[in-house]
Amino acid sequence: MQSGKLNRGLYLCPMAEDLTISIGDKADQYQSLIPQIQGLLEGENDLVANLANVAAALKEQFGWLWVGFYLVKGDELVLGPFQGPVACTRIRKGRGVCGSSWATARTLVVPDVEQFPGHIACSSSSRSEIVVPIIRNGAVLGVLDADSAEWNQYDAIDQEYLEKITALILW
Ligand code: SME
Repeated sequence: MQSGKLNRGLYLCPMAEDLTISIGDKADQYQSLIPQIQGLLEGENDLVANLANVAAALKEQFGWLWVGFYLVKGDELVLGPFQGPVACTRIRKGRGVCGSSWATARTLVVPDVEQFPGHIACSSSSRSEIVVPIIRNGAVLGVLDADSAEWNQYDAIDQEYLEKITALILW
């Protein structure tokens, strides 16, 4: 759809098209989503805008409980753009799943959050979680965090595609 004036006197955002939600298996869903995320990121270098749209696209496709970003600021992670219930604003390095992913620079897949020592429960509805560190020039600059109300939601397929998605973000 072209950007421009609608007949009701409103202006249309150039990206106002709806996301196409795919219904196949998980890999199919990511494969349909990734080019759409590339389209959303194309030509935009504002970090907050891009993180906000990536979080929204993931939430729309998968309907997880919570998905968003924490950004490294000094010795803490600070809450960034997200979709879902309100969340903890600051997490120290090494704390919780997010702080552990930062400290180890590794993706962490947590099938049952109750079994993860030191898990930080921002929502009592969260049952499983994946955290992907965002690494540029060897440094972790932030993490992508996704939480599900289902146990065992995330696996190696999510890890593979979420790592690809985070690599697309111009940081
Ligand atoms: N569960 C995370 C905290 C962030 S929220 O889930 C949004 C953790 O243990 O680091």
